[in-house]
Amino acid sequence: MQGSPSPRPLRSRAGGALSGTVRVPGDKSISHRSLMLGAVAIGETEIRGLLTGEDVLRTADAMRALGAGVEVGADGVWRVRGVGVGGLAEPSRVLDMGNSGTAARLLMGLVATHPVTAVFTGDDSLVKRPMARVTGPLERMGATFVTRSGGRLPLALVGTASAVPIAYRLPVASAQVKSAVLLAGLNTPGITTVIEAEPTRDHTELMLRHFGGEVTTERQEDGALAVSVTGEVELRGRAVAVPADPSSAAFPVVAAVLRDGSEIVLTGVGTNPRRTGLYETLVEMGADIRFENERVEAGEPVADLRVRAGRLKGVTVPPGRAPSMIDEYPILAVAAACAEGTTVMNGLAELRVKESDRLAMIAAGLQACGVAVEVGADSLVVHGGRPRGGATVATAMDHRIAMSFLVLGMVCAEPVAVDDGAFIDTSFPGFVSLMNGLGADIGPVG
Ligand code: S3P
Repeated sequence: MQGSPSPRPLRSRAGGALSGTVRVPGDKSISHRSLMLGAVAIGETEIRGLLTGEDVLRTADAMRALGAGVEVGADGVWRVRGVGVGGLAEPSRVLDMGNSGTAARLLMGLVATHPVTAVFTGDDSLVKRPMARVTGPLERMGATFVTRSGGRLPLALVGTASAVPIAYRLPVASAQVKSAVLLAGLNTPGITTVIEAEPTRDHTELMLRHFGGEVTTERQEDGALAVSVTGEVELRGRAVAVPADPSSAAFPVVAAVLRDGSEIVLTGVGTNPRRTGLYETLVEMGADIRFENERVEAGEPVADLRVRAGRLKGVTVPPGRAPSMIDEYPILAVAAACAEGTTVMNGLAELRVKESDRLAMIAAGLQACGVAVEVGADSLVVHGGRPRGGATVATAMDHRIAMSFLVLGMVCAEPVAVDDGAFIDTSFPGFVSLMNGLGADIGPVG
């Protein structure tokens, strides 16, 4: 698992209609959190449906280094033996979080209020990403950090034995920052509060409650939401059922919408309303997506998605929707490229600090495939039509850029290649075989 995998160029070309019923891998956000909360709970946590992508395996490995027992059975069920709130041990090696911003930022929060020193690093993509957004509030709680310039990884974290609770207003809409502060609050006396002006994904809050934690929310006069966690409350190991990831389902969903004659079903997909902005937008664009068998599993809403091919028209996506679809703009841009008319997306500044500068990568990739786009500091306009394809798209170590352009290749006149599909394994192991099983034609270059 160390180092960057060797590049794996892939190409995708137009094929027939997609059909079939499949389950995409487990939700990445929920998988990270289930390992982390299991590690600081008392007793055993059993996790079904855990995503076994590289990002989550990094978290599993880090939790072992911090003293928890983490094992996977022959039955595919993961079992975590927790050490209790405040019980994490000092890791004797560097915590290498690979490509995963979620793993790095949430773990810094969890560890910050333990009297241990831990060194964090990541791959060539992660070491470029901003960490001051979490080290800032965690310093206010009593932790200290020595970071590389610009608050970047690698960094050393010296945790505190006498943490102080804070009330922190998020300067950016980020579930990672919110979660880092809430997780730090677990081993802090009193009440730690995060105030968010725009609602971001609430998996940490839902799972904390599932484990017996005390989490409350209160609407503020200005409409913001204050989320509070009570510290020094024991968590109990629980059974967790991880839903299929709506951010991964997005790729076969858009492919089926765009490929004439397609009809597919994706089972057990998470439908937490703070994650479903893409689906709302696709339906507004005219897509035929139905939510069937809606149910709640281990505190999270899930449904089976039935998707039929149809014609899309361009829309203006409200910027307030961005947090609920922040990872889905690359694949939405692909859908927009095939829609009739223009799609306007605003409020996208956060896309510049994801696994890659996604705004730049999406724009460059679409232009290379013959799509007219206008890109601003935090906006993207895509003029839809019939993309030509016939290009090799740069992916910059970004799994979602790679998957999005492989989907584009399925509907272009000429094939589309991506320079590296290796990072797809960070979030969607088995992507190529799942897509080909539905009727796609994705394979190695050459
Ligand atoms: C995530 C939050 C989002 C998202 C990431 C997963 C999480 O990041 O992009 O893939 O699990 O909390 P930000 O909080 O930086 O927006």
